[in-house]
Amino acid sequence: MAGNRTFTMIKPEAVAAGHAGKIIDMIIQAGFEIKALKLTKLTAEQAGKFYEVHKERPFYQELVDYMSSGPIYAAILEKDNAVADFRKLVGATDPAEAEEGTIRKRFAKSKGENAVHGSDSDENAEIESNFHFAQEEVLA
Ligand code: CMP
Repeated sequence: MAGNRTFTMIKPEAVAAGHAGKIIDMIIQAGFEIKALKLTKLTAEQAGKFYEVHKERPFYQELVDYMSSGPIYAAILEKDNAVADFRKLVGATDPAEAEEGTIRKRFAKSKGENAVHGSDSDENAEIESNFHFAQEEVLA
């Protein structure tokens, strides 16, 4: 992955509200190239596994229930400095703290229902991409 790819999910509340197209457009306009994309729905078991690093956090069960509550889009994005640049585009976890022009400022409802996920490191981008996509589903 060599530092130029990241992984994202458009979360259930944003998909249900009809914001997925606008969010994907913001991502493309910011210079990211989509290398893989799918509409899917996580089981509670899958959501629990994906967010296993947060297992000890008080919001873990809420997060698992929420992330398995409806369809999501999962995608792999490519751009120089992808992880850091995407986190800038996404904005702070708490939408009240997110800057103007970020996806969360525009679409997130709360700290939990915060519209999108973005990987926090190159290593996690690779793990999370492999969680959702088989190699043949990803463009070279
Ligand atoms: P995400 O970037 O997907 O990674 C971890 C998620 O945990 C985060 O987005 C939020 O959706 C969720 N999260 C973080 N902090 C809180 C919180 N205080 N309450 C509820 N959910 C949270």
